[in-house]
Amino acid sequence: MPTQSFAFANQKGGVGKTTTVVSLAACLADAGKRVLVVDFDPQANATSGLGQEKLEGHSVYDALLNGQPLTALVRQTGFPNLDLIPSEEDLAAAEVDVPRAERFLERFKMAIEPIKASGVYDFIFVDCPPSLGILTMNALVGVDRICIALQCEYYALEGLTVILRVVEHLRSSGANPALDVEGIVMTMFDSRTNLAHQVVEEVRKHFADKVFKTVIPRTVRLSEAPSFGKPIIHYDKHSAGATAYTALAKEFLKRQEAAEKLATAAAAAAPAVVEPATAIAPAVPPPDSTAV
Ligand SMILES: Nc1ncnc2c1ncn2[C@@H]1O[C@H](COP(=O)(O)OP(=O)(O)OP(=O)(O)O)[C@@H](O)[C@H]1O
Ligand SMILES: [Mg+2]
Repeated sequence: MPTQSFAFANQKGGVGKTTTVVSLAACLADAGKRVLVVDFDPQANATSGLGQEKLEGHSVYDALLNGQPLTALVRQTGFPNLDLIPSEEDLAAAEVDVPRAERFLERFKMAIEPIKASGVYDFIFVDCPPSLGILTMNALVGVDRICIALQCEYYALEGLTVILRVVEHLRSSGANPALDVEGIVMTMFDSRTNLAHQVVEEVRKHFADKVFKTVIPRTVRLSEAPSFGKPIIHYDKHSAGATAYTALAKEFLKRQEAAEKLATAAAAAAPAVVEPATAIAPAVPPPDSTAV
């Protein structure tokens, strides 16, 4: 299977995008998948959540604007199979500078292409900032699919409608015609409140199978992990948060396997393309001179 890329996005802040990127990436890496996290947020929470320092000049800024190869920015995190392209606060300038560049929506798509083509990674996860600005748009144009982290709270559905409209627009305008919604991850679920149950039910009613069955509980351990620079499975392997993200990783992998099967079946069902040279090849093999 070629590298699959995903943007984790939601214009709402603090809904669990970064926690999901870091935790899910770590669980997949632990399961033997090669994962690259791209920190697309000047807050650089994915960078610190993976225990990495924020260093001036170490972000996708120059790759988006000055043709720096993204490969030069890849760091090993120390967690097996898990690499990172970090961020730092100067990336904020990209919101102003990228729109002035040529093909400004495709800057990330062009930059990430060599990494995708190299096939080094199974998955690339882009952690988007909490806005629908130029960075998020670049991420959405450059990836195959979007994952939406949705906090189990009252206004969740409203925000979801907005982001889905953006996805539809990017598709219909031709900016990324193949962009698909991979799934919706319900986060910070508090089983003691009726509201949390109602929100999950409502989202499932509208989006059915797009919603991951695994719901991420609100737990203190998940909020503590970033300050130790560790993904939850390395911070507290037996916590409820680690168990939930491990289950999400399994579900995520099942979806990938199902998608791969579908793609293989579709390719097999497609009519074979006959090369003209083959079509007019003589039925009788040419005389073999060595046979005389
Ligand atoms: N399931 C959870 N239980 C408890 N705390 C959580 C959970 N998920 C995330 N948090 C905490 O909530 C805060 C926001 O989470 P996170 O940073 O993942 O959201 P975000 O959507 O990436 O935010 P931003 O929009 O600012 O980038 C963080 O302090 C995080 O540690
Ligand atoms: Mg974040």
